[in-house]
Amino acid sequence: MKLDVSHLSRTLLFEGVPPEGYEIAEQAFRTLSLKPGQTVFEAGDAGHALYLIRAGKVKISHRNLDGREKVLAYLNPGEIFGEMSLVDDEPRSATATAVEHTIIHALYLEEYWGLVRRFPQVAHNLARIIARRLREMNHEVEVLTFEEARGKVAYALLKLYRHKYGEATPRGRRMSLTHRELADLAGTSRETATRVLGQFQELGLIVSGSRVIEVLDPTGLENVLYDL
Ligand code: CMP
Repeated sequence: MKLDVSHLSRTLLFEGVPPEGYEIAEQAFRTLSLKPGQTVFEAGDAGHALYLIRAGKVKISHRNLDGREKVLAYLNPGEIFGEMSLVDDEPRSATATAVEHTIIHALYLEEYWGLVRRFPQVAHNLARIIARRLREMNHEVEVLTFEEARGKVAYALLKLYRHKYGEATPRGRRMSLTHRELADLAGTSRETATRVLGQFQELGLIVSGSRVIEVLDPTGLENVLYDL
């Protein structure tokens, strides 16, 4: 799949860049096609490229010393990843894996600098993306530190909902996700996640299956999170 201009104009990285910048960007990016489960890079790898998601979904995750996986984020079309190693030349801070069939565009350091020299707005946009992630992480640290299991699970579901994970349905958003995956995202045990999901279902906030969770009432989940 080619890098198309309408896609770039809707990407925060290119906000404020004049249309001729898209043509130049088109030359700078390399397109990669990934199968479900295919790894883009592992935590600890050296990295000299950032990636823009064109289609599909990418999981950003990390393994603890005991081998358990912590999912940091699920990223969607229009979002970027791999910018940290590009900027600070340190090893990759997390592993990136395609969740489904996924198309990404790679921008290598040299081409990135070429773009930034012509369109400095790109560097400012990258700083905005990093600032936004830091804000999100500060909020997450607060939730993980102070919230009980219900707040943690509500936050994890809201995070997926806001990142438009899964498909929209007439009554909400349907996400393919096991209880174990949600528990890893929320920082709770699988048993606790299942118990809390049962409570949320009784409250009419979600419908929970073994591999699918449908969020019906995001406002209700926010009320749980903020104890309203
Ligand atoms: P990098 O360290 O190069 O490689 C791993 C990438 O995962 C990192 O750049 C970011 O792009 C992305 N990443 C790391 N932590 C998070 C997070 N908490 N939320 C979203 N993306 C992240």
